[in-house]
Parts: sequence; structure tokens; C-alpha cells
Amino acid sequence: MQASRFLRACRREKTDATPIWLMRQAGRYMAEYRQLREKYTILDLIKTPELACQVTMQPINAFDVDAAIIFADILPPLEGMGLELDFVQGEGPAIYNPVRTPADVARLRVTPPEESVGFTLEAIRLARAELEGRGIPLIGFSGAPYTLAAYAIEGGGCKYYLLTKGLMMSEPAAWRDLMEKLSEVVGHYLLAQARAGAQVLNLFDSWAGSLSPHDYRERVLPYTRRALDIAAQAGVPIIHFATGTSGMLELMRDAGGDVIGVDWCIDLESAWKRIGYERGIQGNLDPAVLFAPWEALKARAQQVLDQAAGRPGHIFNLGHGVLPGTPVDNVKRLVDFVHEYTAG
Ligand code: CP3
Repeated sequence: MQASRFLRACRREKTDATPIWLMRQAGRYMAEYRQLREKYTILDLIKTPELACQVTMQPINAFDVDAAIIFADILPPLEGMGLELDFVQGEGPAIYNPVRTPADVARLRVTPPEESVGFTLEAIRLARAELEGRGIPLIGFSGAPYTLAAYAIEGGGCKYYLLTKGLMMSEPAAWRDLMEKLSEVVGHYLLAQARAGAQVLNLFDSWAGSLSPHDYRERVLPYTRRALDIAAQAGVPIIHFATGTSGMLELMRDAGGDVIGVDWCIDLESAWKRIGYERGIQGNLDPAVLFAPWEALKARAQQVLDQAAGRPGHIFNLGHGVLPGTPVDNVKRLVDFVHEYTAG
């Protein structure tokens, strides 16, 4: 297990080939997943450890990826805080009692992860046992405080984050209270996942790119740092990922993480230079490129690898999650190509 190229890359050690896994590697683009979804809702899959473990293994069985990520979602921990969550077919996540006022923030509870998301911790134990024999490490994950705050406040996806930024700017004390609670929830959730067997932790700050560098620095970074400081007690590598943050990679780095995940809106080469070579980097192929003919896909994957220049600490990934409808055959070819091109 120590020899896993993914774990080695997380520590910026030399590897026999560049490791690759894909964010959202388990999901609707796979027929095996869609088949299970005909029988179960996404929350059923997440809350039944045996099923979550089974979905975690689907991409491991289909592709030669170097890591598994536990099948879960960033939003269930919000249920433990008192929010009512559902996933609406064709529309995405919905929170029926969103956080809009200081009184709403005051009502939010900080529940220990064993109580609120024990099913995911159990799924991690099951998946770890299955993966052990195959030499594949397991990644645990959480949404970051800001991204979770945005879902809790907006009540679902949104375009302009007006309610979130409204609360941030007009109710600074409530914002601080909300972000303090979220950083505790996120930090302890990550720590519990590592203690349940996750060997690497990935923080997803998917909506951080909606912020100016000023607001990120003043109103978000301290809480991301707090969550990552709590998680770091586990002693496992942490990947800190966000999208739309090319204008503030240095701030993301300062918030924490051993590896910084970057989207495709910046060349990997310049991103790594700005982050500094004392951190690893994960990314950063445009997920849409997986829909392209193989030669075009291969050329772009090669560009990403050439920019990493064989420096230890690069984990190949997309710049965001695998999109629904992605051709499975291209995923397989991409994974094999990354290994072949970088071997030796
Ligand atoms: O990567 C993996 O394979 C593990 C599973 C995973 C899911 N969600 C399963 C899921 C992970 C790591 C996530 C993270 C997640 N969830 C993020 C952060 C990463 C990112 O993509 O930015 C975010 C923002 C969410 C919130 C979320 N969950 C949305 C917006 C949606 C609906 C839109 C969509 O992509 O389908 C979900 C649902 C969801 N989470 C699905 C899956 C496989 C699709 C559910 C279905 O089967 O219909």
C-alpha cells in the first residue's frame, strides 16, 4: 500500500507513472450506476453503506484509476445541522428550509459526524476493506465551508449568489457564526473519515470562484483554514480543490492543503509556479474534452502532462467533475494513456 503511486504523489515523491483519478468518477455516465439508480434514489445510495461501497467500486472495476473516492455527496452533513435536503430529479439539490436570517444561523446545530453521517463513515470502512486487497487507496471528502454556506443559504444551485453575498455583507456577525459552525462540521467530518479509513481527504470549494479575492481572504479563508487545521490532525494528505479561482490560487494555497486542485482555466504550468513547488497539484483537463474524438483528447491530455514536466507531485485529474453523458470508452483510454505516456 505504501507503494501506491497516488499516495506517493500526494507526498511529492517520485512515482513509476503519473497517477490519475477523476472527480465524480462514479456517476450517471456509467451504465452500472444508472442501473442502480433505477431502483434507488441518490440519498438511498449514499445512506446504505453496502450500496455506497458498491458504487465506489464501479469505476475501480471499469478503469485502471489510481484512487477510489467514497460515494457520498457534499450536502448530507447539512442535514445534521437541521437542514432538510433532497435531490430533485432533473433539478439537483434542494434545501427546503434555507438559512436566510441570523435566527436561522443560530438554530443550526453542530452534530458529531458519527451521528449525522455515520452511514458514510461505515461505507468508508467497507470500501477500505475491499480496496485493501487491490492496492487502491481511498479518498474521503467534504464540501468547503463557503460552498456549503452557499447551498444552505440559496437552498440549491444559483447563478449570482445574491442571497449568500447579501448575508455575508449585511449580517457580518451571523456570517461569522455560520462559517464557524460550518468549519467545525467540515473539519470534524474530514477527520472522522480519515479515522474510518480514508487515506487522503479532498476538500471541494466548488463555488469559491464566485468571490472576489478580497471577500475570499476576509470572509472565507480563515474558516477553510480552520476546517483544514482540524482535518490535518489525522495526518493524511489533503487535496484542496476549487473552480474559478485562477485569480486567487495563492490565497487557496495559504488556506491549506498538501495538493491544490485547479480547474482548466489556467495552464497547469503557470498554476504550479504560482502555488509553489512545495505543494502538489491536481488537474486540470477540461471535462468537456472527454467528448472529443480520441486524437483531440489525447493531444490535450498530453499538454497537461507536458506542463507538469514529470515533476513529482502531479496527480492527473479533470479540472472539475466528469460530466453526465461522457463516453466511457474515452475515460478508459485517457486513464491508460496517462499511465503509458508517463511510465518509466
Ligand atoms: O466523485 C465521486 O465519484 C464521488 C461522489 C460525489 C458526488 N458528489 C455524487 C453525486 C462527489 C465527490 C460529489 C461532490 C459534489 N456534490 C460537489 C463538489 C464537486 C463538484 O462537482 O463541484 C458538489 C457541488 C455537489 C452537489 C451536487 N450533488 C449537485 C450540484 C448535484 C446535482 C447535479 C449533478 O451533478 O448531478 C449532486 C448530485 C450528485 N452527487 C450525483 C452524484 C453521482 C448525481 C445524482 C444522480 O444520480 O442523479
